[in-house]
Amino acid sequence: MAVRFILDGAIVDLPDAGPTDTLLDHLRYRMRRTGTKEGCAEGDCGACTVLVGELTPARDAMQWRAVNACILFLPMLDGKALLTVESLADGRALNPLQACMAANGSSQCGFCTPGFVMSLYGRAIGAAGHALPVADVIAGNLCRCTGYGPILSAAAEVTALARDDAALVAMLRDLALGDGDAAGRWFVPRTADALATVLAEHPEARIVAGATDVGLWVTKGLRTIAPVVFVGDIAALRGIEETADGLTLGAAVRYAEAHAAFARLHPDLGELVRRLGGLQVRNAGTVGGNIANGSPIGDGPPAFIALGATLTLRSVDGRRTMPLEDYFLDYGRQDRRAGEFVEALHLPRPAPDAIVHIAKLSRRFDSDISAVCGAFRLTMAGERIVDARVAFGGMAATPRRAAGCEAALTGARFDRDTIARAVEALRADFTPLTDVRGSAAYRVEAAGNLLWRLWHRRQGEAVSVLEAIDG
Ligand SMILES: Cc1cc2nc3c(=O)[nH]c(=O)nc-3n(C[C@H](O)[C@H](O)[C@H](O)COP(=O)(O)OP(=O)(O)OC[C@H]3O[C@@H](n4cnc5c(N)ncnc54)[C@H](O)[C@@H]3O)c2cc1C
Ligand code: FES
Ligand code: FES
Repeated sequence: MAVRFILDGAIVDLPDAGPTDTLLDHLRYRMRRTGTKEGCAEGDCGACTVLVGELTPARDAMQWRAVNACILFLPMLDGKALLTVESLADGRALNPLQACMAANGSSQCGFCTPGFVMSLYGRAIGAAGHALPVADVIAGNLCRCTGYGPILSAAAEVTALARDDAALVAMLRDLALGDGDAAGRWFVPRTADALATVLAEHPEARIVAGATDVGLWVTKGLRTIAPVVFVGDIAALRGIEETADGLTLGAAVRYAEAHAAFARLHPDLGELVRRLGGLQVRNAGTVGGNIANGSPIGDGPPAFIALGATLTLRSVDGRRTMPLEDYFLDYGRQDRRAGEFVEALHLPRPAPDAIVHIAKLSRRFDSDISAVCGAFRLTMAGERIVDARVAFGGMAATPRRAAGCEAALTGARFDRDTIARAVEALRADFTPLTDVRGSAAYRVEAAGNLLWRLWHRRQGEAVSVLEAIDG
C-alpha cells in the first residue's frame, strides 16, 4: 500500500508498504538510518524514539510528539512528518543538544543515546509533553548503565532550541493523504460514519488506534494482523470536551493529549496518567484502546469505573451507552458487538466534597504496568458516606468493582471502624492470581492498604508519594 511522509524536507514515497511493517525496521533495514536503535521492540526502552509531526488543527504550525518507532506501523505515518536522530546534525556540526551531551559525558554505551537525544530535543522544541518535569520526559528512555546524572545535566543546559518549520507546514498542507490498501489489508476511514460502514462490511477487521498494544502482538507475538482499520486520525474521535458536568473524550484521544484535563477532573487521575507508560507510550496510546483492550491490569478502567464513567459504542445501527463496568464481561471478553467500535468515554465530575483516591502499585515507579490499581469515590453527606464506588485492576480477570467493600462503606460514618470493616469486606471481594507482578497474598494485602491510605490521607497524615513496590 502507498504511504507518504516527509523526512528532512523531502517526501518519502513508499508505494508498497506492508500494513504492519514497523517504522523502526523500515528506518534501519530499508533506509539504513541506523541511528535509531532497537533495544526491546516493545515500547519499553525508548532507544527507537523518533519525533512524528502533524499540523495543528489550525493547520498553521507543527505539533511534534516523541513516539517509539518499534511499535509504530508505517501506514500510521501517512500524511505526517518525521524526525530521526540523523535529522538533527546538519552534516558538519552536532546539534547543540548533541554537543552538550557529548561534552557532559551523557553518552556511555551510545545505544540508548539517540533515544534520549530525541526525547530531549522534542522537549527543547516544544513537542507534546515538553512542559513536564524533565524526568517525566525521559521516563520512557532507559539507560542501563544508569548514567542519568550527566543526561539530566545536559537537559538542564539545553532547555529550548529554535526550529523553523514554515516550509514543512506548507509541504504538509499540500501532501495528499492515502486512502488505504487496494488489497483490503488497511482501511483508513476519515469520519466516524465511514468507520461504522467499514466495520459493517468487515466486522472481522482489527481496529488500531495508537498500536501500543497491537504493535506488540506483531513484534513479540509474531502475529499477522489483517485487515486493519486505523482510527487514530479520525477527528471526530479525537475531541476533548470539559464541562461543569464532567469530561467527555473521544476514543482516539491519546493519553498525553488528555493528561491536563484528567488532572483538572481530579489530581489523582492526573498522577495516574503521568505514570501510564512513558511519554512515548502516552503520545501514541489512546483512552479507547486502553479500555477496548480489556486488560485486567490497564490503568484507566478501574479509575474511570470508580468515577462513574459511561462508555458509548457505535455501529451503523446506532449508539449504545453503558456503565463502563458492564463492558468488561470476562477475561478477554467485552460487550462489543460485531461492527461496533468504542466511540467515547464520559467521566462525571466528582462532587466537591467527594473523597476520591486513585493509586497505582507497580514494581517500577515509572513506565510500568500496575500490579494493583485501586480507585475510590465516596460521595458524602456530612460525615456519612451516601454512595461508595470502589474498583480495582489487577485483582480479577477484568477491571471490577468491589461489591462487599462498597456495601460496607455505603450508609456508614466515615470513621476508622468503617474503614476497618470495609478492608475486611474487600478481602472477600477478590481471589487474585499470583504472577510476576505480585503474589495473590500481596495483592489482597495491598488492596486493603490502599483503602487505609485513603483514610490516612484524609486525616492529613503524610503517605509516601513513591508507590512503587519496594523490592
Ligand atoms: C511500554 C508500554 C508501557 C505501557 N504502560 C501502560 C501502563 O502503565 N498502564 C496501562 O494501562 N497501559 C499501559 N500500556 C498499554 C497501552 O499503552 C494502553 O493500553 C493504551 O492505552 C492502548 O491504546 P492504543 O491506542 O495504543 O491501542 P491499540 O494498540 O491501537 O489497540 C488496543 C486494543 O483496543 C482495540 N481498540 C482500539 N481502539 C478501539 C476503538 N475505538 N473501538 C474498539 N476497539 C478499539 C484494538 O482493536 C485492540 O484490541 C503500555 C504499553 C507499552 C507498550
Ligand atoms: S526498541 Fe525499545 S522502545 Fe522501541
Ligand atoms: S549510555 Fe546507553 S545504556 Fe547507558
